[in-house]
Amino acid sequence: MSNNLLKGKKGIIFGALDNKSIAWQVALEAVNNGAEIILTNAPIALRMGSIHDLAKKCNCQLISADATLVKDLENLFNQAMRIFNGKIDFVLHSIGMSVNVRKKRPYTDLNYDFLMKGLDVSAISFHKMLQVAYQLDAISNYGSIIALSYIAAQRTFPDYNDMAENKAYLESVARSFGYHYGKHSNVRVNTISQSPTMTTAGSGVTGFDAFFDYANKISPLGNASSEDCAKYCVTLFSDYTKAVTMQNLFHDGGFSKTGVSQELIDLISIKK
Ligand SMILES: NC(=O)c1ccc[n+]([C@@H]2O[C@H](COP(=O)([O-])OP(=O)(O)OC[C@H]3O[C@@H](n4cnc5c(N)ncnc54)[C@H](O)[C@@H]3O)[C@@H](O)[C@H]2O)c1
Repeated sequence: MSNNLLKGKKGIIFGALDNKSIAWQVALEAVNNGAEIILTNAPIALRMGSIHDLAKKCNCQLISADATLVKDLENLFNQAMRIFNGKIDFVLHSIGMSVNVRKKRPYTDLNYDFLMKGLDVSAISFHKMLQVAYQLDAISNYGSIIALSYIAAQRTFPDYNDMAENKAYLESVARSFGYHYGKHSNVRVNTISQSPTMTTAGSGVTGFDAFFDYANKISPLGNASSEDCAKYCVTLFSDYTKAVTMQNLFHDGGFSKTGVSQELIDLISIKK
C-alpha cells in the first residue's frame, strides 16, 4: 500500500547492507511512497554486492562513501545535487559498528583505539554528514534528517557495550545540530530509537536472541519490525511532521514506557 507521502521528494539513504538491514526497508518504503532516492554505503558494502540488487529494485544510483571521511561525504552530497538537479529533501543515517563488540572486549576492558573507531563510524559520522550538508546548503527548506538509535543511550544493557555511549552521542548531535539547522533553513533533525531488530549489526551483540525475546515480551505491541520502522521514517520525511525536530522518538512497541509485563512475571513465577 502506498500513500505517496513522499511524492516529488528526493533523499539519500545510508546503510543498506542486505535485505535484513533497516535501511533496506526504508529505501523500499520511500520509493513505494513516490520518492526518488540515492543509496550509499562504505566501499566494502558495495563490494559485498547485495546493495546492487536493491539499487536495481529502487531504480536508483548507488554512490560509495565511507561516512567517516569528509571528502567522501562532500563528493556524495555534490553528486546527489547534480543527479537530483537540486537540493535533497531527506537523509537516513543507518550506520553503526563497535570494534569492541566485534572483538568481544568486555565493557570493563575496552580497547580505546577500537572505541574511537566505533565512535567515529557510529556517531561522529552523523555530525560530519550534517556539517557537510549544512556547509554545501544541500538540504531543502523543511528537509528531514533521521539517524537510528537504541534505548541503551538512556538505560544500561550490559552487552551493548560502548555502543551505548555512541548512541548517547548520536542523540545529542540530533539535538544540537537540530537547533542550528532549524534556525538556518527549517531543517528537521531527529533520531528514532528502534526495537531490537534481527540484522547484521543487531545480531553482532552477544546474547542478541535473548535480548530480542526479552524486549518482545515486555513491549505491549511486541518488538517493532524493520518494515514498521521504515513506515515511521517515511512519516518523518514527509510534510506531515514539519514541526518535529531535535527529538529522540521511540519506535519500540511501548518498551521504553513499560516496567514489567504480566507475560514476564508469569515466566519468572513458573521457573521458581
Ligand atoms: N538491529 C537492531 O537491533 C537495531 C536497534 C536499534 C537501532 N539500530 C541501528 O540501526 C542502524 C542500522 O543497523 P542495522 O541493524 O540495520 O544493521 P546493518 O548491519 O544492516 O547496518 C549497518 C550499516 O552500517 C554501514 N557502515 C558501517 N561502517 C560504515 C562506514 N564507515 N561508512 C558508511 N557506512 C558504514 C554498514 O555497511 C551497514 O550497511 C544502526 O545505527 C544500528 O545501531 C539497530
